[in-house]
Amino acid sequence: MIKVNTDYAYLSENVHDYQKEVSKLHQVLRTKTGQGSDYLGWLDWPMNYDKEEYERVKVCAKRIQEQADVLLICGIGGSYLGARAAIEFIQGTYPARALEVIYVGNTFSSSAIIRILNYIKDKRIALNVISKSGTTTETSLAFRLLRQHMEEKYSEEGARERIYATTDRQGGLLKPLADAKGYETFVIPDDIGGRFSVITPVGLLPIAAAGIDIDALMDGLKDAYADFDQESLDANPAYVYAVARRILEKQGKNVEMFVAYEPSLAYVGEWWKQLYGESEGKEGKGILPASVNFSTDLHSMGQFIQEGTKCLFETVLSVKVPELDMLFTHDDADLDQMNYLEGKSLDWVNKQAFKGTLEAHHDTGNVPNILIEIEDTTAYTFGYMVYFYFISLAMTCYMIDINPFNQPGVEVYKKNMFRLLGKK
Ligand code: PA5
Repeated sequence: MIKVNTDYAYLSENVHDYQKEVSKLHQVLRTKTGQGSDYLGWLDWPMNYDKEEYERVKVCAKRIQEQADVLLICGIGGSYLGARAAIEFIQGTYPARALEVIYVGNTFSSSAIIRILNYIKDKRIALNVISKSGTTTETSLAFRLLRQHMEEKYSEEGARERIYATTDRQGGLLKPLADAKGYETFVIPDDIGGRFSVITPVGLLPIAAAGIDIDALMDGLKDAYADFDQESLDANPAYVYAVARRILEKQGKNVEMFVAYEPSLAYVGEWWKQLYGESEGKEGKGILPASVNFSTDLHSMGQFIQEGTKCLFETVLSVKVPELDMLFTHDDADLDQMNYLEGKSLDWVNKQAFKGTLEAHHDTGNVPNILIEIEDTTAYTFGYMVYFYFISLAMTCYMIDINPFNQPGVEVYKKNMFRLLGKK
């Protein structure tokens, strides 16, 4: 399902030399004895998920589709990136569906917030507020304004039928608020951190509401659960990726550039940056995750990658079979001199751009490239891929003795901001 190719990675060591270390850390991960093991709920989630709640997610998703033209997903970081990554990965950026999905609660920008309030004024809306802590300021601020807007528009009773809250079982402020208002609620398990929560109702409710088959996504997750429970580097591509990153870091490559050739994968890049950056970047360690979308960004970042400081390696996530394709057309006049592509498929053109770029960056630019290939952009593959990245992340972080599951650094800005805002 997922292939990892390190042939273009200029690895100075053999990945397989790390088998002993990987086997040891595999046991640490699977026996939940490593750092941060309180937050390993995602590991067995493909088998242990709450089946009753899962069915309720599907029922609510249908209700949202019936009651709204616009679904507002109110959350930030791990509380929205996964859902957005999934929805765009599977349906693209201009989906053919009735329900419009808008992401809110992820900014303090007054213009952005007011534009959305204006945009939804005369639309039928539903809202899914998502916050594990229930106290995230960006989300709480937008949610109050949107809640008031909805109560004015639909009455308190009408708003109650259209607001869904996904939050901690009991902690924080959102759960008591939702209970007081009578909103339907979904649980973010205690032992699953925000950036791993796309596989819980955090991701599943918005994804299902967007009309995506979440059973297929869960099937992908379950298959990945079985496939990646293998310590052998011969059998486990997630561990190959984990080790290759560490070898490249030792070679002085401190930046990993996530590369995709599909615009619909842009938010997979955003989601991946949070997953890897927030998990690994601590104690003065870690590889900086960055992302580009090719060929678009070859016309901007391409120059740096080709000839700039040799601080980075690329990891290309490529899709073997695109969702849509067509043959390039003929034009009698051929004034644009594009007839040489007549009869070629658009995806073939895209794949030649990939090959040519790999040759340029690797052969000419000496930029290491790890190649990850997925089969397609279905819901099944999304579920499978997400688990691949989780497992790989846990291994790669344990290899540098980092707790992958906390994020102490993000509190620093909050403290300063709260002081400036006068929060008690
Ligand atoms: O991964 C994380 O923990 C963070 O990115 C959170 O998801 C983000 O800060 C939002 O937090 P919350 O869900 O508590 O509102």
